[in-house]
Amino acid sequence: MLHLSFLLLQSAVNWLQCKNEHDNVIVTGNGRCAEAQNKEAKSSPHKGSDFASQNKEDFMIWEDVLAKFKELFGDEGEIGVYFAPGRVNMIGEHTDYNGGHVFPCALTIGTYGVARKRDDKKLRFYSMNFEQLGVIESSVEGLKPEKEADWTNYPKGVMWAFGEKGMKVEQGMDLVLFGNIPNGSGLSSSASVEVLTGYILKDMFGFDVTNQDLALIGQFAENKFNGVNCGIMDQFAIAMGKAGHAIFLDTATLKYEYAPIKLENAKIVISCSNKKRGLGDSKYNERRSECEKALAELQKVVSIDALGDLTEAQFEEHKDAIKEEVCVRRAKHAVYENQRTIKAVEALKNNDVALFGKLMNESHVSLRDDYEVTGIELDTLVEEAWKIDGVIGSRMTGAGFGGCTVSIVKDEAVDTFIKEVGAAYEKKIGYAADFYVVEIGDGPVKLA
Ligand code: GLA
Repeated sequence: MLHLSFLLLQSAVNWLQCKNEHDNVIVTGNGRCAEAQNKEAKSSPHKGSDFASQNKEDFMIWEDVLAKFKELFGDEGEIGVYFAPGRVNMIGEHTDYNGGHVFPCALTIGTYGVARKRDDKKLRFYSMNFEQLGVIESSVEGLKPEKEADWTNYPKGVMWAFGEKGMKVEQGMDLVLFGNIPNGSGLSSSASVEVLTGYILKDMFGFDVTNQDLALIGQFAENKFNGVNCGIMDQFAIAMGKAGHAIFLDTATLKYEYAPIKLENAKIVISCSNKKRGLGDSKYNERRSECEKALAELQKVVSIDALGDLTEAQFEEHKDAIKEEVCVRRAKHAVYENQRTIKAVEALKNNDVALFGKLMNESHVSLRDDYEVTGIELDTLVEEAWKIDGVIGSRMTGAGFGGCTVSIVKDEAVDTFIKEVGAAYEKKIGYAADFYVVEIGDGPVKLA
């Protein structure tokens, strides 16, 4: 969940971006602008996101990453090309470490990786998002987090985690990455790198692991190697993603079901605040401790394993057991948000997108007032979104403290949304937000 600065590097892959007249970047599918995709949709019997055009987009990106790999590391040997998505959470925020439900989906944007096994122990990593860092070298022996290792602590963490789980990586590898997940956006660029690395290791070294294992290994690496106490949501959403579906996951049991997202005449729009998270990770761990404290106090009066075990009524009945007012509010969010997520998925099953949107709005209010993880940037994006006709629901998504919001917007309102929310945001905050009309994609894949 730490956010690698996966900048959309205009210099490296400038065809990924195009600016609209309001200077906001609109990216769809694998990172092309909405206008380009619309053109294609019109001239094609299928939608712009259909399999063939999706593959073409993938190909355009990974060809570039492959070319970089060959330039840096040569073209001999067996070279694999891989992709793992980013994710957006529709509802169920800060519930995954409280034994509650989440409802995320994988995106068609994510991380591309080109890799080759080596005969020695050396690791040579390069990111097209951090070209200034050049090739960062280390070894599969004695893997430990190091400040100067920078973003490579993510793939290294996963290699270390495989070892901890009894699958020691004995040989090194060369790896080039490129991510088209926006910078610091809360769309899980680091979990994307983790799952991608696990997927590459499984493929190159033949480890016998499922995609669900890859999610757990990624989370383990994030927790124990990179020191962020995140829940399972991000890695699970990425490893288990399914095009057109969100994943209704019970984080207490890891039982899950895929729910089709059929937004007739509406789009999922991600608004990126461009506020970097900064202290976000320590605040994240602080929220987690506050919930743990509340749980321990509640356990003295009611038999539960996690806050997610409580209904709203049970919480109201027992909340006086929690000593600090701030912890009451944190726990209240965790309990109510979990119940909201269950209701939201039910609403979607009943094709009640309006109710789903209303629950998204309530989720934001709770994250703003009780959990206090929003801030002026995310609040402005959401509150301006709520003013637009045709917005079905809007809320912050991910850890908060900066990052993105997710909105469901009727097709005919998307342009107005971007124009008006964008203008109001820039006026109030002093810099621009970026907008992404996204599509729900599959989990990790070997492309070549
Ligand atoms: C981050 C974490 C997740 C989850 C969300 C908040 O994305 O990585 O595990 O806790 O924040 O819902």
